[in-house]
Formats: sequence, C-alpha cells, structure tokens
Amino acid sequence: MLLVTGGAGFIGTNFVLQQAAQTAEPIVVLDKLTYAANPANLAALRGKAGFELEPGDIGDRALVAALLERYQPRAIVHFAAESHVDRSIAESDAFVRTNVLGTHVLLEEARRYWSGLGSASPAQKAFRFLHVSTDEVFGSLGAEDPAFHERSPYAPNSPYSASKAASDHLVRAWFHTYGLPTIITNCSNNYGPYQFPEKLIPLTIHRALAGAPIPVYGDGSNVRDWLHVSDHCSALVRVLDQSPPGESWVIGGNAERRNLDLVQTLCSVLDRLRPRGAGARYAELITFVTDRPGHDQRYAIDATRLREELGWTPSWSFTDGLEQTVRWYLDHPEWMADVTSGRYREWIDQQYGARA
Ligand code: NAD
Ligand code: TYD
Repeated sequence: MLLVTGGAGFIGTNFVLQQAAQTAEPIVVLDKLTYAANPANLAALRGKAGFELEPGDIGDRALVAALLERYQPRAIVHFAAESHVDRSIAESDAFVRTNVLGTHVLLEEARRYWSGLGSASPAQKAFRFLHVSTDEVFGSLGAEDPAFHERSPYAPNSPYSASKAASDHLVRAWFHTYGLPTIITNCSNNYGPYQFPEKLIPLTIHRALAGAPIPVYGDGSNVRDWLHVSDHCSALVRVLDQSPPGESWVIGGNAERRNLDLVQTLCSVLDRLRPRGAGARYAELITFVTDRPGHDQRYAIDATRLREELGWTPSWSFTDGLEQTVRWYLDHPEWMADVTSGRYREWIDQQYGARA
C-alpha cells in the first residue's frame, strides 16, 4: 500500500495512473483538492478495489494519523504542495502552511507510525518517506555554470522555492535526528498530460487555441530543463525501490530550452496539428510581458548519478514528448474547458462538499 499525498494534482495523477496500470499495489490518495487538483483525473480508478481518494489536508494531524493507522502503507510518496511560483509571489501564506508546516505534520505522524511498526521489524525496515521536491531550491544558474547535482548548495529565490527548500531541510533532519527512512528527489520542470494551465506549456496551448495573447516573461531568454512527467514518475519508482534511506537524487531530462524557443516550438506544432486558418500562425500571438520579480535565469540538471547508480534514463525525447503532450490537450478539450471554467470546482463541491 502506498499513501500518495497530492495525488489529484498534475504529477500525482500521472504517478497514480502509472502505478495502477503497472502494478496491483493498493493506493490511497490524500489530497486537499485545491484549485490545482482535479479528482476527475482519477475517475477511472474510483470504486476499484485497492484505490481510495481521501479528501483532506496534510496539515490535519488527526486525519494523517488515522489514515496511517487504517491503511498501514509501506511508503508515503509526498507530492502535496502549493506549486506555482507566480502565486507564491502574490500570496505566500498557503506555501508556508502546506509546504513547510504540512510537511512537518506529515513527518511527525510518519515518525510515530514508523516507530510503532516495531523495532527492526521487516515492515519498519522497508518503510520509506519519499519527498518529491524541485530543482528550484538550488537557485539560478548562469549560462556557463555546470548543471545542478546532488551536492549543489541550496539558494532558493522565490517564496515557492524557499518553502520547498525548508521542507527538504525538515525531511533531511528527520532522517539524521530520528532515523526516519526518508529520500528526497529534486526534479526539473515537468510537462505532460493533466498539467494545470497556469504553467507555461499548458497555458501556451490553451491561450493559442483560444486565439489569446501568449505571455512570455521578460525577453524569453530564461532557460528551463524539461522532463516528461511519465519519466519523472518512473524515476520516483526507481528511487523508491532502490535508494537507501537518507539519500537525495536530482532528476532531469537533459532538455534545456529557452522559454521563447519553447513557445515558438509549441506554436509550430500547433500550426501543423491544428492550423489557425487563413494563413495565420500561432506565433503571431506571442506577447512579451513584464518579467516575474526575482525570475531565475536558468535551471539545468545533471542526472548522471541516477543513471549510473540506479540505471534510470528518460524514455521520452523532448520533441516526441512535446508532440504527445500537445496531442493530449487537443484530444481532451473538455478537460481544459472544465479546469478553466470552474465547472470542475462545482463537481468537487458536489462530490466532496465540506471535506474538500
Ligand atoms: P500541483 O499543484 O499540480 O498539485 C499539487 C497537489 O497537492 C494538488 O492536487 C493539491 O490539491 C494538493 N495539495 C495542496 N495542498 C495540500 C494540502 N495542504 N494537503 C493535501 N493536498 C494538498 O503540483 P505538481 O506540479 O503535481 O507538483 C507535485 C510536487 O512535485 C510538488 O511538491 C512540487 O513541488 C514538485 N515538483 C513539481 C515540478 C513541476 O514541474 N510541476 C517539478 C519538480 C518538483
Ligand atoms: P512555470 O511553468 O511557471 O514554471 P517555473 O516558474 O516553476 O519554472 O514557468 C516556466 C518558465 O516560463 C519560467 O521561466 C516563467 C516562464 N513563463 C512565461 O514566460 N510566461 C508565462 O505565462 C508563464 C506561466 C511562465
């Protein structure tokens, strides 16, 4: 049994669907069902034996304790977080509450549960707390700097990355102080199906299809290192199964792109798959807008250690992964319509009411 926090968000959804397709291991999802969650993503699993969605907050100590007691998971895979940099700049409270304080509650309850599994019992030895974090905790790289690796110093620059860095430090301390068998992963920017359209790639697709201006911050020269979400999920499974406790791993796809180049590529994929008509091009919608304050210039990951020690490599090339992603959004217009119209919020209220 896996306890997956944040399993109704972008990466959590992909992880849960991938696990359910590839293994018979039961999964319980604990998710607060914030704006970023869409429980309809997991609709295919509802009612199936071995799958439960528990609406709730990782900061709710009694709830976390009760779920651990009831489900007796062999691992916690911790995705739950506030994840959007721009929102963290506008309003940081929820970031501190969930990413820092929520992770603290989860660690404390995991520690109590793990201690209770019995000293040196097989269940206690096997238990893992996998903390899913971001490369943004390492700050910003210059054009010629070597890519981030496991020993890169922490230097977070945004309220989001600072809150994730704080959570990483707590996780590390719970291993060193209490022996809780934690593992930390720091991954680069993910893309793929089910990503909320506040993030660059789905936002670009959504706005392009709507004929709306596509906002590029600053001069579009910032660089991100992109990884298909299914490759991130396969790396997490690899780490969960093979990493010794107390380790941290960086995960990335070796696919650095300047934002402007990425947006232009997306526009040309859309030109091919869904032409605008009358000779118009999606790239005509690109609009340079005021830069994000404190905007990190470049992220890049050197995932050599994960490849050499655990044998993980990404399976998607960036070109194929991007095309598959664009096709997914084109094939699921109702998903995009729901999450942008607020209809899915009504559905959450109807389904989960006050629990969400
Ligand atoms: P997301 O915003 O799409 O999903 C987050 C999920 O967490 C949502 O389902 C939300 O309802 C849930 N949640 C939020 N607060 C909660 C709380 N207090 N209790 C329970 N559930 C809560 O995020 P994502 O992009 O899927 O990212 C998942 C994790 O991976 C995050 O921890 C993020 O920092 C990390 N990460 C993301 C990326 C990326 O590119 N998206 C890259 C590296 C690491
Ligand atoms: P984002 O998807 O928000 O991820 P992160 O900030 O966590 O890397 O943004 C990716 C890059 O795209 C980042 O450099 C900011 C930029 N960006 C834009 O240029 N326009 C936009 O509308 C958004 C949302 C992001």
